[in-house]
Amino acid sequence: MNTVELIARKRDGGELDEAELEWLVGGYLAAVARADDRPVVSEGQMAALLMAGVLRGFTDAEARALTRVLVRSGDTLDLSVLPGPTIDKHSTGGVGDATTLLVAPLLASAGAQLVKLSGRGLGHTGGTLDKLESVPGLRTELSGEEILRIVGDVGCVVAAQSDRLVPGDRAIYALRDLTATVASAALIASSVMSKKLAGGADTIVLDVKAGDGAFMPTVEAADALARLCVSIGVDAGRRCSALVTDMDQPLGRAAGNALEIREVVEALSAPPAGRLAGLALDLAAQALALARDRDVEVVRADLHQGWTSGDALDRLRRMILAQGGDPAVCDRPADVLPSAPVVRSVEAPGDGTISVVPARAVGEIAAALGAGRQRKGDPIDPTVGVVVHVEVGDLVRAGQPIATVHARSEGDADAAAKRLAAAVQIGTEPVPPRSTVLRRVGTVRDTGASCARAEDPSAA
Ligand code: URA
Repeated sequence: MNTVELIARKRDGGELDEAELEWLVGGYLAAVARADDRPVVSEGQMAALLMAGVLRGFTDAEARALTRVLVRSGDTLDLSVLPGPTIDKHSTGGVGDATTLLVAPLLASAGAQLVKLSGRGLGHTGGTLDKLESVPGLRTELSGEEILRIVGDVGCVVAAQSDRLVPGDRAIYALRDLTATVASAALIASSVMSKKLAGGADTIVLDVKAGDGAFMPTVEAADALARLCVSIGVDAGRRCSALVTDMDQPLGRAAGNALEIREVVEALSAPPAGRLAGLALDLAAQALALARDRDVEVVRADLHQGWTSGDALDRLRRMILAQGGDPAVCDRPADVLPSAPVVRSVEAPGDGTISVVPARAVGEIAAALGAGRQRKGDPIDPTVGVVVHVEVGDLVRAGQPIATVHARSEGDADAAAKRLAAAVQIGTEPVPPRSTVLRRVGTVRDTGASCARAEDPSAA
């Protein structure tokens, strides 16, 4: 095969088949490994191919083929030793989005097994591994044997993805990050779904974010991505569904690693309430209904019972202990979690209705305090971040606390408080609250009819 001809075909709007994509990905991995015994696709050639595809568009067939090629680039996890059902959950990334840490113990409390291989935060979005590692002692770098042992004992495990899983995606994603080629539905879908398929679960539930703080700014773009991901999963023989959810405002109240762990523990210690808890229950119910061919309302009732009985919190405690963390975090989070030296309140400047809590700005403010990283490998501070006490639609009075900043210094706290006060907007008109779930793709309907699918979002 001729690499230059393949790039030229994509540049001119043509299509590449699976063998050609395999050649290109294999050649690029050879270049990354500095192999001299295999034909090499240089970094420049791969960057040109990606940009040609972003500008001309990749077809759905190319997205499917690329997913298979990426899965074959490395190892896959074999979960067949587990009694099942095995479930995986993925979010395309957002602010204040700790749903994984609620969904995992909830599903475990309902008898399912969730193996979640997660990533770290980048830019304004948070990462589940960073959040978990704010628990003293907790390890996320686990061997395959440890992962299987923990999920077998507890029902859930959240671990770092090993270097041997989908190395093709790892190499290409790093290059996309540097070449403004992340924003392609086909590339995002193949990247996400290759990792999900390699992760081995038989049921996959996706949370595709839409809005100011998400990869996909519009509901339509997020819906198209969700449909492509679900079709790739179903084609590969998995049960797969997606919720398209709002990321115009942060999902939970906290943005910052230890602060989000505290929010998760507090949420599981009380009856489910608020947007974060609601979405976690919805995602878990969809996954379980799909996995078990059961009515979604029946499994929702089971999950609710697992939450209110304290079993879900106990699963989280056991998972944290099994991963080397201090389980007392589930009883006394404020004592166990590290905390920032400076805490500053931000107050409403006047009376009115909250009209905007911009997710991206809140994420960027938390990242600037040290909760996130600009480049892969940057250190983060687990203690810092922001807690926003209001949501769009809330009535506030002048002087009422609307946010709290947790910072390393007075100067950092001043800067963050100023930015937050400018970012959160208060209007005079009433603002209807926006639902968290905006569309459903391939989900089990809440109709009482077992396993009816709602492919048409208007039917959901
Ligand atoms: N998350 C991924 O895993 N891959 C992408 O391409 C974008 C978001």
